[in-house]
Amino acid sequence: MRLLIPLAVLSLVLAFSASRSTEAPTGFDNKSNGVADDATHQADLAKFEEVEQLSDGLGPLYNAQSCRECHQSPVPGAASQVAELRVGHQGPEGHFRNPEISIAHGIEVISGRSLVNDRAICPNAAFPNNEIQERVPEAETIRTFRLSLSLLGDGFVEAIADQTLIDLAERQCKSSHRKICGQVLQVPIVEAPGQMSVGRFGWKDQHASLLSFASDAYLNEMGITNRLQPDEVTNLCNTASEPNDMPGPDGLSDIDRFARFIRATKAPARDSALASSPVARKGYSLFDKIGCATCHVETLTTAAAETKINGGTFTIPAALGSITFHPYGDFLMHDVGTGDGILQATREHYGNKVFRMMSGYLSKQDFESSRNKIRTAPLWGVRLRPRLMHDGASLTLRDAILRHRGEASHVSQQFEKLKREDQEAIIEFLKSL
Ligand code: HEC
Ligand code: HEC
Repeated sequence: MRLLIPLAVLSLVLAFSASRSTEAPTGFDNKSNGVADDATHQADLAKFEEVEQLSDGLGPLYNAQSCRECHQSPVPGAASQVAELRVGHQGPEGHFRNPEISIAHGIEVISGRSLVNDRAICPNAAFPNNEIQERVPEAETIRTFRLSLSLLGDGFVEAIADQTLIDLAERQCKSSHRKICGQVLQVPIVEAPGQMSVGRFGWKDQHASLLSFASDAYLNEMGITNRLQPDEVTNLCNTASEPNDMPGPDGLSDIDRFARFIRATKAPARDSALASSPVARKGYSLFDKIGCATCHVETLTTAAAETKINGGTFTIPAALGSITFHPYGDFLMHDVGTGDGILQATREHYGNKVFRMMSGYLSKQDFESSRNKIRTAPLWGVRLRPRLMHDGASLTLRDAILRHRGEASHVSQQFEKLKREDQEAIIEFLKSL
């Protein structure tokens, strides 16, 4: 009897620790997932929606005036139809080279990035002769569009331990007899110069940290220089003082608020009526059985609260620690035959300082072999995306599935072999996500 009590206590403790991971909150209600109080989250959301003007430092080259312009549907932070243009060419020995884009009648050549900005602030009244609009030179023959992505629930993605993704890649490769081997890319944490972590954001896994991504987007999409990306792409017709994004009275800059906003978003909610329908349930079991779930992994769990990530600069808060969520993705790079052939634009994504400091490490990162790979598209919220795949060139779920080749060839062949009604069940399941 004396022994029994401690045993009962022990098993209770064990049961408690096993069930300690909780489900991520989901929904499209613009409310915080618990990372910030609701008033803070509303204020951060307003920053995310703010429309920047010339006097704020917009441009000189840019794509849109606000984060929300490209991350909006159905709520701020989600995705949209807006795509970006990236180009380059094949250099000697077949290596990818970033484009050289001459602007202002050849006064300046933009290099070191693959992005081509679609908008410019001049010529205007003050600078009638500055023709700075970028155009694709004929010689830049490798070209693609990349659609905007949803940011909802990305705080959970950021909080996945590196080792979880590394182990997932190994398990996947073993269990598929080396047919499907996701690539892990170590990328710099811009706010922790010299530190790397496993890339998980962007179509090319170019960032691991939401703060790094926000600073990259603020400069490259909107032309707003900030403490992590202080150098303008061009200074022609630029009048605003640099850096454009200065800390407010609370010490936080816009990029800090964007990162906090994204970290506090809830994961996309499923279509609950469809999700519980027998056909969608059958669809999921077929999706799993034929191998879609090898890459489109249903469930991941974040590292524990208090774990330090992003090179020690961010501590996982309670609301993001030990959380189970359902992204239907592995956040790894795969060749599914759709690759755009464009190499990671290191100077563009990580800024001049980190680029100079880390170019030795970066060249060891095997970015070259990821040229034709794309991160597995996480399928949470896919029902809200009318254009599919990185380039938006697939317009139905069936077309997107049938386009999978390369590492996914044997899986898409399994799909083709299914009876029509079984194929429909998988598509109904996707429509519930
Ligand atoms: C002109 C449209 C546009 C604007 C404006 C824009 N983005 Fe994006 N965003 C994109 C595109 C396109 C991608 C995918 C980029 C890629 O990987 O090639 C993306 C991806 C992201 C991602 C990665 C999401 C993931 O899950 O992988 C984050 C984070 C992000 N944007 C944050 C921001 C923030 C913060 C702002 C405002 C400072 C912003 N974006 C402004 C178009 C835009
Ligand atoms: C080898 C890994 C892998 C397997 C197996 C795989 N996928 Fe994918 N899937 C990807 C990648 C990578 C992309 C993104 C490709 C791109 O954008 O060019 C993707 C994209 C998609 C998309 C488009 C999502 C969007 O937001 O644009 C859908 C839908 C999809 N997959 C469904 C499936 C289904 C259904 C199966 C099983 C028949 C499957 N996938 C098997 C890796 C895989």
